[in-house]
Amino acid sequence: MARLIGGIGTSHVPSIAAALDKGLRNTDEWKPFFDGYIPAQDWAAAAAPDIAVVIFNDHGNAFFLDRVPTLALGVAESYDPIDEGWGPRAVPSFQGAADFAWHLADQMVARHFDPLICRELQVDHGMQVPMELIFGRPAAWPVKVVPILVNTIQYPIPTPQRMWELGRVLRAAIESWPTDEKVVVLGTGGLSHQLQGARAGYINPAEDRKWIADIGPNPARYRDMTREDYVEVFGSEGAELIMWLVMRGAMDSQVKTLFRHYFAPASMTGAGMVLLENL
Ligand code: DHB
Ligand code: FE
Repeated sequence: MARLIGGIGTSHVPSIAAALDKGLRNTDEWKPFFDGYIPAQDWAAAAAPDIAVVIFNDHGNAFFLDRVPTLALGVAESYDPIDEGWGPRAVPSFQGAADFAWHLADQMVARHFDPLICRELQVDHGMQVPMELIFGRPAAWPVKVVPILVNTIQYPIPTPQRMWELGRVLRAAIESWPTDEKVVVLGTGGLSHQLQGARAGYINPAEDRKWIADIGPNPARYRDMTREDYVEVFGSEGAELIMWLVMRGAMDSQVKTLFRHYFAPASMTGAGMVLLENL
């Protein structure tokens, strides 16, 4: 049986990738942000997961606004970094856990989640950045991946409650997989930000800090909030945080928060990470 060994929630802001590309990791501006991820990197190196299921949203790169799947699942053998306008970044391709992903597709559909199934897919910063934050910049990634893409771009986005339920399905799928892989789930996006409209530039560090503190021990409030609540509290793009609920829903009801980190602003965005383990 495969085993869920941990859940990570993390930002995926593209300025993080740009900072790494420009060699700014240790500047006064960025060092406190990146240093906050060292414990999670050490945990990942020691725990050595075999598969990372990465929940993220595409940002008009693999899917444009003419065709936006509410939910999509990658079942490919590999995923290349996509060109977001300046050429693909020099990060290695991601090797897919294709057999496990097909099992996940089957379990999702059996439990009434019907994703767009992608045999070919390129992945944007929504997946690249979390992988770099947790696994560094290896010559080859130490884990296979399963990308799960959620529409948080074009309204109506799915409900927080549905994301939580998807996490439950994911957990059951992991535990009904016959071989012994160690799986980590990464929920990405947020924290508070709004990139457009009258509230462009809005962030809410007080609510971000509460989220980081409470998503492990007290997630009920966040599961019960409406989509509109997310936009109001965290901003229109801060609603990406619903993707952390997939990760949280996959974990036990009682969890241990191993590490947490908050930093604001990164670009125009509250940024940070939690790492959870089942008790
Ligand atoms: C920014 C944040 C995001 O989540 C994103 O996907 C793109 C840009 C930003 O704050 O710049
Ligand atoms: Fe985003």
